[in-house]
Amino acid sequence: MDVRVINDKFKEHFGVAGEMFASPGRINLIGEHTDYNGGFVFPGAIDKGMVAEIALNGSDKVRAYSVDLNDYAEFGLNEEDVPTQSWARYIFGVCREIIKRGGKIAGFDTAFAGDVPLGAGMSSSAALESTFANALNELFSLGIDRFELARIGQSTEHNYCGVKCGIMDQFASVFGKAGHLMRLDCRSMEFEYFPFDPEQHGYKLVLLDSVVKHELVGSPYNDRRASCERVAAILGQEFLRGATMEMLDGVKDKISEEDYKRARYVIGEEQRVLDVCEALKRNDYVTVGKRMYETHWGMSHDYEVSCEELDFLATVAQECGVTGSRIMGGGFGGCTINLVRSELYDSFITTAKAKFLQKYGHEPKVYNVVISDGARRI
Ligand code: GLA
Repeated sequence: MDVRVINDKFKEHFGVAGEMFASPGRINLIGEHTDYNGGFVFPGAIDKGMVAEIALNGSDKVRAYSVDLNDYAEFGLNEEDVPTQSWARYIFGVCREIIKRGGKIAGFDTAFAGDVPLGAGMSSSAALESTFANALNELFSLGIDRFELARIGQSTEHNYCGVKCGIMDQFASVFGKAGHLMRLDCRSMEFEYFPFDPEQHGYKLVLLDSVVKHELVGSPYNDRRASCERVAAILGQEFLRGATMEMLDGVKDKISEEDYKRARYVIGEEQRVLDVCEALKRNDYVTVGKRMYETHWGMSHDYEVSCEELDFLATVAQECGVTGSRIMGGGFGGCTINLVRSELYDSFITTAKAKFLQKYGHEPKVYNVVISDGARRI
């Protein structure tokens, strides 16, 4: 991303120069809707994200300029100062969550921009939150550890943006490491970096963006989470993690058919993440791909977070002989993530574009995945 446009806008609005901070969006190879169930996820940070220029302004006000939206917001740091623009709430929320944790911060000026496509399931909002959480931590020497930075972003979503999300996106944005995926156990919060270089084994990872905008705010996302929590409670567990199909079948007559299907998906997904990690250790990409398709259809039929366009993209991938393809992220729109043999790549992309265009009147967008570093000063 060309950061000069941010520098120019910052100068134009605030007259001085500030310091630069960046945080990435993420992909997730497998492990969807498992984070808030205490399960495993397998994300990596990407080479697309948010960049902000920030300078302390000696007041108790934040003055923020969104370069992409060409919009300006000014707000104080007290609970009642919540800005009206939804984009500004992410920054406000991060400030408030830091203050609630005892962090002493004051006013600042900022201009920011990003190149993570909005609403594509690549966590543009987590990138924004971790940019500011990390920057304020450094600029005010708060000494907050990196897990807490991720939690600050997550609490921002819960308390200021209306999404009861798990920790995956913020974790990936903060902890990302070039060339590595991370398997995070969302119950113990232990994690492990996995070197990930599919090209070395003759595969490429590519995202196809249906350009159906997903909007998690006030969405069925929270309903999915509530279903899982109801089933966990009936099973006498804090989380669905660790539940088996036998256990689920044992309470089948005490839960709704819908909740049963949601839980069935989550239980299957737990095992798929572990299978994929084991398969990767053997460079068995065929198994990785199989599990990806299973996730897709589980998300489509049981968890019901797919849409027609994403099912179409996964089906075209399968017809083209793509090794693995599935919805990525929360669902309801956004991208599929595709694991494709290098020699098939060109023909797959050409076919997917043509078929999608014919059916929906526009092409999907194509993003090649580069696994990159997490939140940082630049
Ligand atoms: C969104 C949420 C994450 C996670 C995914 C689904 O991206 O922010 O916490 O639940 O959906 O895996």
